[in-house]
Amino acid sequence: MKKDFILILDFGSQYSHMIARRIRDIGVYTLLYHYNEISISHIISKKPKGVILSGGPFSVYEKNSPLISKKIFQLNIPIFGICYGMQLISFLFGGNIQKSKFKEYGKSYLIIDHSNNNLFHGIPNKSVVWMSHFDEVKNIPREFKVIGHTSYCDIAAFSHINKDIYAVQFHPEVKNTEYGKSMLKNFVFHICKCNSNWKLNNFVQKTIDNIKKRVNQKKVVLGFSGGVDSFVTAYIIHKAIGNSLNCIFVDTGLLLKTEKEKISFLCKKMHFPIKIINAKNHFLSKLIGITDPEKKRKIIGEEFIYIFQKESEKIKNVEFLAQGTIYSDIIESSVFSRTSISDSIKSHHNVGGIPKTLMKLKLIEPLKELFKDEVRKIGEKLGLPKEILYSHPFPGPGLGIRIIGEINEKKISILKEAENILLQELKNYNIYDSVNQAFILLLPVKSVGVKGDKRTYEYAAILRVINTEDFMTATFSHLPYDFLEKVSSRITNEVDGINRIAYDITSKPPSTIEWE
Ligand code: XMP
Repeated sequence: MKKDFILILDFGSQYSHMIARRIRDIGVYTLLYHYNEISISHIISKKPKGVILSGGPFSVYEKNSPLISKKIFQLNIPIFGICYGMQLISFLFGGNIQKSKFKEYGKSYLIIDHSNNNLFHGIPNKSVVWMSHFDEVKNIPREFKVIGHTSYCDIAAFSHINKDIYAVQFHPEVKNTEYGKSMLKNFVFHICKCNSNWKLNNFVQKTIDNIKKRVNQKKVVLGFSGGVDSFVTAYIIHKAIGNSLNCIFVDTGLLLKTEKEKISFLCKKMHFPIKIINAKNHFLSKLIGITDPEKKRKIIGEEFIYIFQKESEKIKNVEFLAQGTIYSDIIESSVFSRTSISDSIKSHHNVGGIPKTLMKLKLIEPLKELFKDEVRKIGEKLGLPKEILYSHPFPGPGLGIRIIGEINEKKISILKEAENILLQELKNYNIYDSVNQAFILLLPVKSVGVKGDKRTYEYAAILRVINTEDFMTATFSHLPYDFLEKVSSRITNEVDGINRIAYDITSKPPSTIEWE
């Protein structure tokens, strides 16, 4: 039986993933599609119980703004427009949208004008909502009525007079909207009449049973990176088929200082076998003289696959290739063509990089319907250690893209030492869990310094620490000066080869998180 689900059409809002997550949290499955990735006939065939039109950074009245076919309103499927989604509904029905006199960002008070509207069931007449808009609906189309306003926005919510079409200017998916969850619940349960069907508890057992049945007596290979997605994937598959799973961990020599030891220790502790391939020299030899970031990535990716393939071929009876793909990887690679933040086999394999011999294998991707925080919840239920589940992301090409310019053994060892000190101090100062990624990168620039009365001429390094919701946008972290001082002083004193540290204070955009 097909399960009830809500379809979210994404118009580019940074909050679209959050809408999907919130609805899953209240127990209903969601699918997220880029607005022009799915046609009306495809929507009809998928039979969603409701459609949400997300926010987005556009103005509906501008040339080339993202639009959808008006036919969507004739499908008899309830529709809920949020922010840009609201303006879009109004626009498509002939309403008038203009730049707001007051741009509203942040906290506002919603006053409900129709307390008996289905969307506002059980919600007080005045409550805090989270606004983020520069356009607003000035006149609603004839078939609609205003159901809520704020002091700066006369039309903060409207609904159709006889169809299930609702819209709000604010963001119910954001935690700061006091009754946002209730509004989403009202839409999903009261209006769309969805059954509750999404529970992570059932997910694990069902997945284990499916894998057992599918794999039968055959063998599975998995490129193990030690990141959260690959750990949870491997653990679930191991629970299902035991030692028929073959985890191959390729040590590229570009990992953090204690990564290999940490992973092999944890895997042993959990009676979970991995095969470690020491390929440090192989990677180094291929990277000699390469300075172009894209070339470096390509080489690291290709060599990774080459070694992984060679190792897989040594195992008899392999019929399946397991990957830690998660839902955001699928959305990101198909829709936004962004970089994956996940483990190495995935980022290299996903983007059309699977070689022919591995292509013959059937894919097992047990987490491909889950968001990152759902993967973590499952990991917690399975008893996996916190240091795996909540570790910062580490890019597939590893330190290779954190040594700007040419890579050599000396630079790798300098950077490993510096990163290790940073990691220790992030933990000592209790900062690790309050930032989303933190690392050092080595510049191909030397500067003059003085250590113990001696002139030095050593590398300058950059400290990069960021906070982010989804790694699409990020801000540099506002860190205490004494922490910055400690990190800088320890690295410049303890690491031979670095005599200067600068803190990167740019946001993404305009820069990116990594430098290469
Ligand atoms: P950027 O630098 O694009 O990074 O702002 C966003 C996130 O992606 C990670 N990243 C990668 N992850 N393979 C990966 O698995 C890669 O090639 C790669 N490049 C960047 C980066 O660390 C950050 O978390």
